[in-house]
Amino acid sequence: MYVITFANPKGGSGKTTSALLLAEQILHAQAKVAILDCDPNQNIVQWGALRTEQGRSLPFHIEPAPSEDVILEKIETLANDIDYLVIDLEGTASQIVTYAISQSDLVLIPFEPTPMEARQAARAVQLVRNAGRMLKRHIAHALLFTRVNAAFQTNDEKDVRKETTDSDIAILDTTIVRRSAFTRIFREGMLLSELLQAAQKDAEGRTKSQQERLLKPFETATENARNYAQEVVKALQSDEKAA
Ligand SMILES: Nc1ncnc2c1ncn2[C@@H]1O[C@H](COP(=O)(O)OP(=O)(O)OP(=O)(O)O)[C@@H](O)[C@H]1O
Ligand SMILES: [Mg+2]
Repeated sequence: MYVITFANPKGGSGKTTSALLLAEQILHAQAKVAILDCDPNQNIVQWGALRTEQGRSLPFHIEPAPSEDVILEKIETLANDIDYLVIDLEGTASQIVTYAISQSDLVLIPFEPTPMEARQAARAVQLVRNAGRMLKRHIAHALLFTRVNAAFQTNDEKDVRKETTDSDIAILDTTIVRRSAFTRIFREGMLLSELLQAAQKDAEGRTKSQQERLLKPFETATENARNYAQEVVKALQSDEKAA
């Protein structure tokens, strides 16, 4: 089982969104995936509860682990049943974060590429590296730019990319763009693929240009999520080969 953890002590940096997008794409690639929700706010558990309320099934197992007492045992148990475990963490540095990092094959540090957020992300990198030192093993980690401008690369993004490249920290090539579809999945308890299907239904019988306008945002968001997940899975597999 591969364990992918989303960590950044900065609240609202995009951990939960990136975690859910990854789990969905792994699901579509026909692998067995589960999410361990370690945030006391339980955003992913609530996403699942919203689905249940609406009569939608859960597409993958969502395990709540809101305290440090249970997390290690839960990871051990889940390892028997699944191929990928996605861990969503709260936006603080705490013992549960260290535990999750210690069990990870890859730690992703999502943040919006601005200088202020970059400083917080550097703290997250430090956290991962210290956990690695404690365990005397290298824990693979990479920065993930999120809420990136869709239309053009901002100067902030250019600057942050240059600084992090210079400082020898891995960055995923794929960025997660700022898209309303990525907030709607939470608001509506849906998967990205379900939003696309709903839009396709809406588009039936309309003119070509109306159809394009309705579908384009979801198709672009889906392509973005797929590229991102493919890069993550590839990184995991190449790390395994290198080990
Ligand atoms: N790619 C994106 N496009 C648009 N909105 C986004 C994107 N990523 C995150 N958001 C929005 O930004 C806010 C924070 O995102 P999210 O909840 O994923 O961050 P977090 O790091 O999990 O926060 P916390 O530390 O509070 O758990 C949410 O309102 C979310 O909908
Ligand atoms: Mg979160």
